[in-house]
Amino acid sequence: MTWKSSEKIRWGILGCAAIAEKSLIPALKNASGTELLAIASRSATKARDWAEKFSLPKSYGSYEDLLADKEIEAVYIPLPNHLHFEWTIKALRAGKHVLCEKPLALTASQVMEMFDEARANKRQLMEAFMYRFHPRLAKATELLESGAIGESRLVQSAFTFVFNRERDNYRWAPQMGGGALYDVGCYTVNVARLVFKAEPLEIRTASHLDERTGIDLTTSLLCQFSDSRHSLLASSFELEFQSSLKISGREGSLFLNRVFSAKDSPTEIILRQGEKLTSFNFPPVDQYQLMVEHFGQVVSGQVSPLIDFHDSFGNALALEKALKSIRSR
Ligand SMILES: NC(=O)c1ccc[n+]([C@@H]2O[C@H](COP(=O)([O-])OP(=O)(O)OC[C@H]3O[C@@H](n4cnc5c(N)ncnc54)[C@H](OP(=O)(O)O)[C@@H]3O)[C@@H](O)[C@H]2O)c1
Repeated sequence: MTWKSSEKIRWGILGCAAIAEKSLIPALKNASGTELLAIASRSATKARDWAEKFSLPKSYGSYEDLLADKEIEAVYIPLPNHLHFEWTIKALRAGKHVLCEKPLALTASQVMEMFDEARANKRQLMEAFMYRFHPRLAKATELLESGAIGESRLVQSAFTFVFNRERDNYRWAPQMGGGALYDVGCYTVNVARLVFKAEPLEIRTASHLDERTGIDLTTSLLCQFSDSRHSLLASSFELEFQSSLKISGREGSLFLNRVFSAKDSPTEIILRQGEKLTSFNFPPVDQYQLMVEHFGQVVSGQVSPLIDFHDSFGNALALEKALKSIRSR
């Protein structure tokens, strides 16, 4: 998966975001085939401080200025969810390739516009679902395809944690794409669609909404897929940490703990076939680094994006349907 080339893709980042500091700056600095050239912030001082702290050659006091830098070929967008659409479109128009955080946009029609813009500008766009790059997921797919559990009939997935960032964080604001479903539920929807290779036909929802802000603190989804396949998905800002996936068939089940958040820990797949348990073990791997290396290969035309338009569009459509159902009550 690692791309070795003398030509490096030159990257910039829009926004001094927590996830950039924690995961993407290290990934972009360690990845082969990438050079992290610049960071932009709404505050020139903050951008300068970050550039100094992370030894980046350039900093910009506005996102526009970074996009005007002709040396930069690709940008990573870790802005609040409601800004993904606007800044992806601007970046594509400025001729940049874009790796944008999840959820790619707040609606499916925005996702469609974003990919139309990418095509019009002959640039690549990919949603940053980093968990898709963990080698464990490829092994799980191989086990499913080998018939290890029979036909996959039920997907159960939870991504929950106790969210305690300050009240001005965008996750508390409905108009900024806040709430647990957009934040972590998007992963569980994505993995159910991935396992079934299909879109949900019907989605039923149960939510606990925050009285002050109206965001969903907890959302459970019951999704019906074709051929009587189901998924039970939970996302929450007020439950203990869970990041799990269980796939069940008539002959057995697969269980993956820390399925979305395996960056620093060894992980396993537990295959249950009747009374027989088999464990497949994986060392820690930086799935963010694998993602940016993959995107470099996409940009240089070596591979197709692992997460494409259909994947992002289907996910956005499912989230939109679920939110409509939540808001209609
Ligand atoms: N893949 C993952 O593991 C993962 C994990 C966490 C989050 N995420 C995603 O990454 C994105 C950012 O999440 P985060 O927790 O890192 O966000 P964050 O710490 O709140 O940072 C977002 C940044 O956006 C910029 N920004 C521009 N306009 C803003 C506005 N009106 N209000 C607030 N910030 C604004 C700010 O940077 P400047 O002030 O420097 O301009 C801010 O630091 C989200 O889309 C989230 O879903 C992904």
